[in-house]
Amino acid sequence: GKHQLLSVDQFSRESVEELFRVADLMQPIARRQKVSRVLEGAVLGNLFFEASTRTRVSFGAAFCRLGGSVCDTTGFTFSSMAKGESIYDTSRVMSGYVDAMVIRHPEKGSVAEFAEATNIPVVNGGDGPGEHPSQALLDLYTILTEFSRLGKLLDGAHIALVGDLKYGRTVHSLIKLLALYRGLTFTLVSPRGLEMPDYILEQTGRLGHTIEQTNSLAEGLKGADVIYATRVQKERFVGEEVEGYTADFQVNKAMVDQCCGPDVIVMHPLPRDSREGAHDLSVDLNHDSRLAIFRQTDNGIPVRMAIFAVLLGVEGLVQHSLRDVTW
Ligand code: CP
Repeated sequence: GKHQLLSVDQFSRESVEELFRVADLMQPIARRQKVSRVLEGAVLGNLFFEASTRTRVSFGAAFCRLGGSVCDTTGFTFSSMAKGESIYDTSRVMSGYVDAMVIRHPEKGSVAEFAEATNIPVVNGGDGPGEHPSQALLDLYTILTEFSRLGKLLDGAHIALVGDLKYGRTVHSLIKLLALYRGLTFTLVSPRGLEMPDYILEQTGRLGHTIEQTNSLAEGLKGADVIYATRVQKERFVGEEVEGYTADFQVNKAMVDQCCGPDVIVMHPLPRDSREGAHDLSVDLNHDSRLAIFRQTDNGIPVRMAIFAVLLGVEGLVQHSLRDVTW
């Protein structure tokens, strides 16, 4: 079959943990203790038709750190899609130039359309309000790493998902991935109108997890092992105001202290919105060790290296490819 990463639906608990064993192998490279050229000669096409810092740069850096190189096109303006070229033609053309593609596009289902038109590996870097599977994978990898440090198990844990659960594709992928574990409690805290879509709730509920929805942040955070805050995706509902989206939805130090224990992990896929009127995650936790947001972004490198290694079939060569750094 084709080698693609389009949705977290393609994973089982076993296959996700297998991927994370490959990510563990990548850690010495991510930490700049070792180098590898296992993807020497390979070229990645990074096609981003929507704004990105983390996903675009970390996929590019992950590919480069395995010895490959990256060709980039950023924004519609700089691609021939601005001249009306279709997804099908773009994908067919790129297939002749590069060995793998990472694509971000504002429409749900568009990355699957790119993948249909090609036989090279395609990775979904975010398809509108659809999914963001590599983000969810690095989030789960982070949770498992943090829990291991804290001596906790993910089975039976309490996860609070906060913010824009309707348009936030990272939480759509993450809840489905977490649902591969057993007996979780999810508290979903969102402003009215930005609730998690029903099809995801039904899918998660069918797997025997407990789901509680609330508009009260204090209620939702109470006793949580993980708080996962998200940004309101204003770019996806131009012109509409979010009723009731106030500072009451902001995850901050006072709220975390009041509702959770010393071992809680505070996460956010980033970017967090630092503009006036945004309330996703306060900066007052920046020096608090419970804040895991930059450990999350760091984990983006080994997890994305593992994704490429598995999609390009070189995961078995990694261990023996490691060399000492010379710089
Ligand atoms: N988390 C994430 O997807 O960030 P970017 O939009 O900067 O890639």
